[in-house]
Amino acid sequence: MIVVYFLASLLMSTVSAGRAADLVGTWTTKSRAVVTGPGFYDPVEDRFIEPKLTGISFSFTDDGHFEQAFYRAISNPQDPACPQGIMQWQHGTYTVGSDGSLRLEPIAVDGRQLLSDPCSSSKGTYIRYNQTEKYTSFTVAVDPYYDSTRLDLYSFDGSPIHPMYLAYRPPEMLPTITLNAITSGKAKRHLDRDTDSSFDVQKLVSKDDLVDPDRWLWAGVVMSVMGGVALFFS
Ligand SMILES: *[C@@H]1O[C@H](CO)[C@@H](O)[C@H](O)[C@H]1NC(C)=O
Repeated sequence: MIVVYFLASLLMSTVSAGRAADLVGTWTTKSRAVVTGPGFYDPVEDRFIEPKLTGISFSFTDDGHFEQAFYRAISNPQDPACPQGIMQWQHGTYTVGSDGSLRLEPIAVDGRQLLSDPCSSSKGTYIRYNQTEKYTSFTVAVDPYYDSTRLDLYSFDGSPIHPMYLAYRPPEMLPTITLNAITSGKAKRHLDRDTDSSFDVQKLVSKDDLVDPDRWLWAGVVMSVMGGVALFFS
C-alpha cells in the first residue's frame, strides 16, 4: 500500500504543484459532514456542535489565515464496542515555504478539544488545544472521479492525510481574530473541566467517513497504469 500511496502522490503532483493561492477556500472530506465555521464551533457559547459523521475540514484565506476542524473516532482495541470520539478546532495563520511546505501556527488560547469516552463517562473532557502543524507539501488537482477540486496534504513522512474536496470559495470561517477575548466570560466556565457536551460516538463506527474508499480509487488508477505498463513490456 505504501508504494501505491507514493505512486498516487506522484500522479497527483504531476497534475498540479501546490501554490498558496490554490489553498484558498474551505475543504472537507467526502461526506461534507465536517465544515469549519459556526456550524462546528460556537465561540459565543464556547461549545462544539456535533456533526453527523466524522471528517476533517480546513479553510484558508488569501491573507494568511487558516481554520481547522476535526471529528474523529478513536478505536479501542481492548473493547471494539467502546470507541472514543474526539473533536478538535483551532485557527491562526499559515505560511507556505519556498520548498512548498505548509506551516500552520494556531492562536494558542483559542483552540479547543473535546474527548468523549461514552463507555467510561457520560461527560466529555473539554480542554484547550494548541497544535502547530507542518506539512511537507500539498497538491491541488481536479479529481476526475468526484468531478471536484481536491486538496492533498502530505505529512512529514510523505504520507497523505485524508483527501479533502473544495466546499466553498471564498471560505466559510469564524472571524480570524483572537476569539478568546470575546468569549472570555462564558469560556472560563466550561474550560478545563468536564462538560455535558459529550457525544454519541457509538454510531460512528459503521459510518466513519475517514475509512475512506477513495484511496482505493487512486490505487485502482495506479494499478491500471502499472498493469498497462506491465502488458506493454511483456
Ligand atoms: C502552543 O504551542 C506552541 C508550539 O508547540 C508552544 O510554543 C506554545 O508555548 C503553546 N502555547 C500555549 C499557550 O500552550
